[in-house]
Amino acid sequence: MAQPRIVVTREVFDETIDFLGRHCEVEANQADVPLTADQIAARLRNAEALMCSLTDKVDATLLAQCPRLKVVANIAVGYNNIDVAACTARGIMVTNTPGVLDDSTADLAWTLMLATARRLTEVESYIRGGDWTGWRLKQWLGVDVHHATLGIIGMGRIGQAIAKRAGGFDMRVIYHNRKPLAADIEQRLNARYVTQDALLAEADFIVLQMPYSAETHHLIGAQELAKMKPTAILINSTRGGVVDDVALIEALQAGTIRAAGLDVFENEPKLNPGFLALKNVVLSPHIGSSTEATRRAMAMTAAANAVAALSGALPPNLLNPEVKRA
Ligand code: DGY
Repeated sequence: MAQPRIVVTREVFDETIDFLGRHCEVEANQADVPLTADQIAARLRNAEALMCSLTDKVDATLLAQCPRLKVVANIAVGYNNIDVAACTARGIMVTNTPGVLDDSTADLAWTLMLATARRLTEVESYIRGGDWTGWRLKQWLGVDVHHATLGIIGMGRIGQAIAKRAGGFDMRVIYHNRKPLAADIEQRLNARYVTQDALLAEADFIVLQMPYSAETHHLIGAQELAKMKPTAILINSTRGGVVDDVALIEALQAGTIRAAGLDVFENEPKLNPGFLALKNVVLSPHIGSSTEATRRAMAMTAAANAVAALSGALPPNLLNPEVKRA
């Protein structure tokens, strides 16, 4: 019997290709040349599975051209690049990679918190520019992370991993979420549920960790920024689009808030050039989960999901279980 065919849109690790090759015929893209929607559609015409990244848009137009498709395995925990309802309507399973990237992504949020608080990118370019002439008492004053108030919006797995790390810094942790956590988890994390407005008003560091969707589009805009303390530091390590970048640039220019640490942007990789002119931002190129171990684990998790779906089993990270009942 012919093996099912899987299309992998971007470069993955060799072990992922080896694993897939034991179960499917693989059309890989190890040269990592970004594919257009038409090129993906052409490759998928005779394929049963798609392993894609968060930069690939999987919508009704694409799906209409893929009559054999059974599963879309995203190599990411966020899946706003996929129209899950359209997949469900066509009986296509959708999977993501939860769990394996929580700690690495939490570490990156903390990297941005510490780097913005201590002005790391400013001082590094100062040293690299050869401008350091000696120690001075009032030089490059930052703000303390320890004993400050950390406000986390979006208290899923990654938000909780961020909160857990705050204990070592003796921080007060408040959070806002669609619904409060169970009391035992709150107690373990030493975190208190508050309204979003209370969080914006009280937190010294505001970390965004909610998924991106139509509901969370521009969750942080000019009005929300105006509710923050002028000393507040905003960290976005989740998805571009949850923050109105134009409003954020204006707030950073005006001193409405102190600083921002950003791993994600609207329209990335073409970020608003306004960010580049600002000294009070620390920027990174969507690397929240980018450690070697974590990216390997994400790719293998996606591959395992795809192979499970193709074998008729329930993939471990199925996002639309209703598809199996249809
Ligand atoms: C995710 O998994 O959603 C991350 O953004 C990928 O780095």
